[in-house]
Amino acid sequence: MSTKETNENDSVLAPGETEQTLTNRQGHPITDNQNIRTIGNRGPSTLENYHFIEKISHFDRERVPERVVHARGAGAHGYFEAYGKLGDEPIAKYTRAKLFQTAGKQTPVFVRFSSVIHGGHSPETLRDPRGFATKFYTEDGNWDLVGNNLKIFFIRDAMKFPDMVHAFKPDPVTNVQSMGRFFDFVSQTPEATHMITFLFSPWGIPANYRQMQGSGVNTYKWVNAEGKAVLVKYHWEPLQGIRNLTQDEAEKLQAKNFNHATQDLYEAIERGDYPAWELQVQWMSDDAHEELDFDPLDDTKLWPPEIFPMLPVGKMVLNKNPENYFAEVEQVAFGTGVLVDGLDFSDDKMLQGRTFSYSDTQRYRVGSNYLQLPINAPKKRVATNQRDGQMAFYVDIAPGQNPHVNYEPSSLGGLQETDRPGAPYEPFYSDKLTRATIDRQNNFKQAGETYRQFSQAERDELIANLANALSGCTTFIQEKMVSYFTEADADYGARVAEGLRQAKANGLGTAGHVGTHPANEGMEIA
Ligand code: HEM
Repeated sequence: MSTKETNENDSVLAPGETEQTLTNRQGHPITDNQNIRTIGNRGPSTLENYHFIEKISHFDRERVPERVVHARGAGAHGYFEAYGKLGDEPIAKYTRAKLFQTAGKQTPVFVRFSSVIHGGHSPETLRDPRGFATKFYTEDGNWDLVGNNLKIFFIRDAMKFPDMVHAFKPDPVTNVQSMGRFFDFVSQTPEATHMITFLFSPWGIPANYRQMQGSGVNTYKWVNAEGKAVLVKYHWEPLQGIRNLTQDEAEKLQAKNFNHATQDLYEAIERGDYPAWELQVQWMSDDAHEELDFDPLDDTKLWPPEIFPMLPVGKMVLNKNPENYFAEVEQVAFGTGVLVDGLDFSDDKMLQGRTFSYSDTQRYRVGSNYLQLPINAPKKRVATNQRDGQMAFYVDIAPGQNPHVNYEPSSLGGLQETDRPGAPYEPFYSDKLTRATIDRQNNFKQAGETYRQFSQAERDELIANLANALSGCTTFIQEKMVSYFTEADADYGARVAEGLRQAKANGLGTAGHVGTHPANEGMEIA
């Protein structure tokens, strides 16, 4: 909640004060909020201006660091309602997570949608993946499903993420995003070909947040009461349908409104037109699946739905706007490590890297006690021995707990461990410790399949967007990218190459170099 909980002192009024009297945070009624204190009405100001200094120094600290990625976002509250089944089967066969078990069971949620690369007030029309992060406030504590709109990703190893983000973000010298730098990285990263195929098609600019899909992207596990696990992927299917924009449509919209997606979500909820998504799950047995031509832990791959069907498990409805953007949407903190009993990690290397990164950045971005903020705190009891730190708002103490005991174990009335119902899930590992790529990389096959599944209009748009973006890159990068598209599909490669020839004939790709470094020769700001 954005507003302060009422406390017993809220009704205490100083003489002459009403409920509406302005005060400072010390509770002092303010008699003059217009003039700083000066020597004479034209004189220098004095340092003991407590009200002014409190006001201005709080203002100086109004901004917290924005998210290093996904800075621009919009959010809403709602609920998730379980179907109690995985397709036609009782869901308990696959997971013991309580929120899924009973048909009709509702769990409150908060969702934050976002774009990825640019800053907090960047246009919502940009070609970019969209974030789709959901916090489920379950009876077992919070579960965060931190996903994107597209079902796959650019890279499959967390080690590459900071480099990828640097290449995609604005140039450190010019502060302008450059397709020369973007494709410099991508052309050295063949596993990105599939994601690039989606991103430069109309799927790279969802029309708004309500009419887009979501996906957990990475592979997770479900664990049942016997301690048996399966591999799963999560997908959100919008019940409003899917709508994407062409580059031309996005540019026209951006000229009029660069906040359209936030506005669309807010206004739909205000008028009672609540957006809803069905949660669908794909599963496979928990093993390496050598029979497949891809690795189930590789997030650059789709799990073909004809082999691994999308099975509905519940529905989510967003029916309440935030009361305060900063308190809720800006300070909300999602993480892939935030799971409840019955849900688990897989060995997906991206997922493991992400799981460290989220709470690490949030301790810095929001503060070490970020989990005490109402938007992040679970809607159930919390009793820990974690104490202190900046902005500690309360003590996680249990009723009847000896307040002198902030450690465990203790025989003096402290907190105690509990037994978890259900058999433990204890996978066994035996292999050498190594740094190595996975075996089944197969970087191009699915990109080709995706290209061929696109409609003619989607393919035309993809080719035009790629030719345009690549036209400012060096010949080396262009040739490398064309070779990847050709490996995916001969027609795909030939059409991008032809698009580049036409761009060159039309004089594109020759002007506006990024900086003066000799290696940038032939590259332009795109
Ligand atoms: C946000 C790291 C991959 C989806 C973030 C943030 C970081 C981060 C540091 C900012 C979090 C905050 O300030 O609260 C990483 C790393 C990745 C990775 C290290 C790879 C190793 C992905 C992937 C997806 C994704 C594959 C899609 C499934 C998101 C979303 C947000 C986000 C949706 C915004 C959450 C919000 O709305 O607050 N990521 N990320 N990330 N990431 Fe990732």
